[in-house]
Amino acid sequence: MNQKTKGDKETIGRVAVYPGSFDPLTYGHIDIVERALDIFDKVILAIAHETSDASKRSLFTVEERIEMAKEVFEHLPNVIVDSFKGLLVNYVGETNARVILRGLRATSDFEYEFHMASMNRSLNIHLDTMFMMTSKDYFFVSSRSIKEVSALGGAVEGLVPNLIARRLKEKFKLPLTKEKQIGWEY
Ligand code: PNS
Repeated sequence: MNQKTKGDKETIGRVAVYPGSFDPLTYGHIDIVERALDIFDKVILAIAHETSDASKRSLFTVEERIEMAKEVFEHLPNVIVDSFKGLLVNYVGETNARVILRGLRATSDFEYEFHMASMNRSLNIHLDTMFMMTSKDYFFVSSRSIKEVSALGGAVEGLVPNLIARRLKEKFKLPLTKEKQIGWEY
């Protein structure tokens, strides 16, 4: 891990780690990152090898998720795409960031997020979790629903970047040109 790329001493306190599965990255996540850049000097998008939810199997490998995220954020030099294994607080401790950033879509997210933020703070009192409300355009978008809609042949363009919509189609072996619309139109 390169300490220098993740937030040096001068930017301490102005670096946020935005952790998640990002399986795949959606415009909801991208919106959070872009808004966070108005507040923080640097945002580290930290892609988890494993999540707290053991039942959750990822569709994309960590390498694929990193590759896609790097492509999506290549025009934003203050966004660092990285991955982590094990405890999030240990990873954040290595970056010099003090803030864990998470997006909140609805009250249904709150219990899980409150639990996770409280656990992380009990593990490291020097870290705080900050929440940003997902913008109204994306509050219904989740990686899980994107995968489900895409697996069933629905269109996810407009909810994820085109390069990710394309990768989803490849995963689910859907035709790349003519969209199939099953049960979901917009
Ligand atoms: O996008 P997700 O799946 O909601 O992200 C959850 C994530 C990856 C942030 C969370 O599962 C996590 O931090 N996993 C690392 C393991 C860890 O630190 N667990 C203790 C927190 S309760």
